[in-house]
Amino acid sequence: MLSSCERQFESVFQKVPMVTSFAPGRIEFIGNHTDYNGGEVLGAAIDRRIAAALGPRRDHTARFVSDEGGDPVVVDLRNPVRRSGRESWVNYPLGVYLELVGAGMDPGTGFDFGCVSDLPSGAGLSSSAALELATARGLCVLNDFTLADEALVLLCQRAENNFVGVPCGLLDQGVSCFGQADHLVHIDCATVRFDRVAVPGQIHFWIFNSNQKHSLLDSLYAERHRECREALEVIRRQYPDVEHLAQVSPAVFRELRVDAGFTETHYARARHVTEENARVRAVVDLLSKGDLAAVGDLLLASHNSSSVFFQNSTPALDTLVQLLSGEKAVYGARLTGGGFGGAAMAMTSPDFGPDDAERIVSLYAEQMPHAPLPTVFHARTGDGAHAARRST
Ligand code: GLA
Repeated sequence: MLSSCERQFESVFQKVPMVTSFAPGRIEFIGNHTDYNGGEVLGAAIDRRIAAALGPRRDHTARFVSDEGGDPVVVDLRNPVRRSGRESWVNYPLGVYLELVGAGMDPGTGFDFGCVSDLPSGAGLSSSAALELATARGLCVLNDFTLADEALVLLCQRAENNFVGVPCGLLDQGVSCFGQADHLVHIDCATVRFDRVAVPGQIHFWIFNSNQKHSLLDSLYAERHRECREALEVIRRQYPDVEHLAQVSPAVFRELRVDAGFTETHYARARHVTEENARVRAVVDLLSKGDLAAVGDLLLASHNSSSVFFQNSTPALDTLVQLLSGEKAVYGARLTGGGFGGAAMAMTSPDFGPDDAERIVSLYAEQMPHAPLPTVFHARTGDGAHAARRST
């Protein structure tokens, strides 16, 4: 992939790149919408990624090209304006550049940027964060900036919050940065701590992309974010010391006096977040004991909670999860990522194969005759983002 990225860069910009980088997509293993609520989350970097090539310029222009084709998008870095429509992908690398400048790391001149991807976008596998991380790592190597991994993750998250305008948490950027083959990344978002948890070799991941994406995806995500903040405010009237929604244990949550400010919606969102956080902790413990069947049950419980209480599932995802959970070789399945469309992931034993995946798709087609057919792939865990100067 890196070589096709270099070839693209050379043919479009008529020069060789100085730096290449890549960053992986991710599976959200468990911890749905816990990250921006100060909770814990487990994710895995996968072997699908975005590769980028970068080269310096002497002026104040940045030029961006992707494997979608078309003319490069040209940006005057002295007056960077948010792009829309077909050019909106440029907001991710541009947002990262602006955050670097804001953090005192101003390259002083422009750059050329090309990228290629084998990560489906809009599938909930975090192609946005991969693009941010590939840019951030690449620009750091290009300009000899040194930035600790934790700072890099936070900078990419700010790029998405501030310039792209999505109030996401730390999950996607954290996993794309800290991912490691055969490991999950465990993030404690309240303390910004990243750990790696070994995944037993016999676990396999299968991604079923529903190929459906809600047209109001970003505004629904922002709405859930707001509802969680409001639920926290109500809880703080009784427990003023609570800083984050995910900090409330399910036991304390059950004892709450439901006062006038706590609507059914707030109750449902808060119930999901508090119980989901407890599930993440339980899964870390169960993985260390190798109890994969119990882990699978919690994945399913997570999906049901997303569907019923957080209401970010879709009929397509519910159908996929229901079909998958009936399979002997499947430990558990759930929607992965923000929801409102995108993909379901299944954690399986090695006995689950392409024929089983095809059978699930046929059953799905019978149950959902008007829905697009899902795209399926087997994902392996992979390493986190990396950049290097190209040897000449
Ligand atoms: C998206 C966001 C993440 C996280 C998940 C839901 O992937 O980018 O920060 O909130 O949704 O868990």
